Amino acid sequence: MNDWVIPQDWSGYSPEQHAMWDTLFSRQLEMLQDRATAAFMEGIDVLRMSKPGIPDFAELSQRLHNATGWTVVAVPGLIPDEVFFENLANRRFVAGRFIRSPEQIDYLQEPDVFHDVFGHVPLLVHPVFADYMQAYGQGGLRAMKFGSIHRLARLYWYTVEFGLIRDAHGLKLYGAGIVSSHGESLYALGSDVPSRLQFDLKRVMRTEYRIDAYQRNYFVIDSFDELLRQTLDTDFAPLYAELAGLADIEVDTILSSDRVLNRGTGSRTGP
Ligand SMILES: [Fe+2]
Repeated sequence: MNDWVIPQDWSGYSPEQHAMWDTLFSRQLEMLQDRATAAFMEGIDVLRMSKPGIPDFAELSQRLHNATGWTVVAVPGLIPDEVFFENLANRRFVAGRFIRSPEQIDYLQEPDVFHDVFGHVPLLVHPVFADYMQAYGQGGLRAMKFGSIHRLARLYWYTVEFGLIRDAHGLKLYGAGIVSSHGESLYALGSDVPSRLQFDLKRVMRTEYRIDAYQRNYFVIDSFDELLRQTLDTDFAPLYAELAGLADIEVDTILSSDRVLNRGTGSRTGP
């Protein structure tokens, strides 16, 4: 199968583009010191991502491969689901190579190299998270056969992109969509608007999400080990069959079965 991988063309970046990375990097790194989970900061260190400029994927991949066998490859924007899953299943993280313009510094619709590389790659140094991402890719290939990609995608959304973790130092960030966003890094931990609920695999897979605004629900895990264990121990085929008969849960809805860590100011009690 065509893996859609293209050259990063690192030497083609302009000084302004490297400077944009540096601006985003220093702003986020400072913000995340006491907000991101320790594994994220360790990943930044191990990969020596504080080296100025947009990372060269070849160099980054070498360090990452030494740590957990993953590599980072460039793709031209959004790619078919099957190709995305196939790459993850083979421990290849696919990243966009373009970087946002100065006008897009705080918001852009399509993930750029800062979101993909700064947001996602540091945690791939963590052996358990690295296994979780591969398991997700393998699970995605299976989900395609059940027509259940949209349910599995919610798992990715509420963990890999917008997950929170309660580690030894309290509530911390690990989702790439949060850690690569200045505004959402503040909001996800500090705002009283969103609800923070204990992670539950089945609940998450029923929960809708919004792509156009900060999240109204965050799901909190206790550890990456627990996340990987729940994922590997779940038999997804009967779960998909069960979920097909259950209504989706709207954002802002709290169920009586939820373990609520913080109830958001805008949330409603659901059926
Ligand atoms: Fe992402």
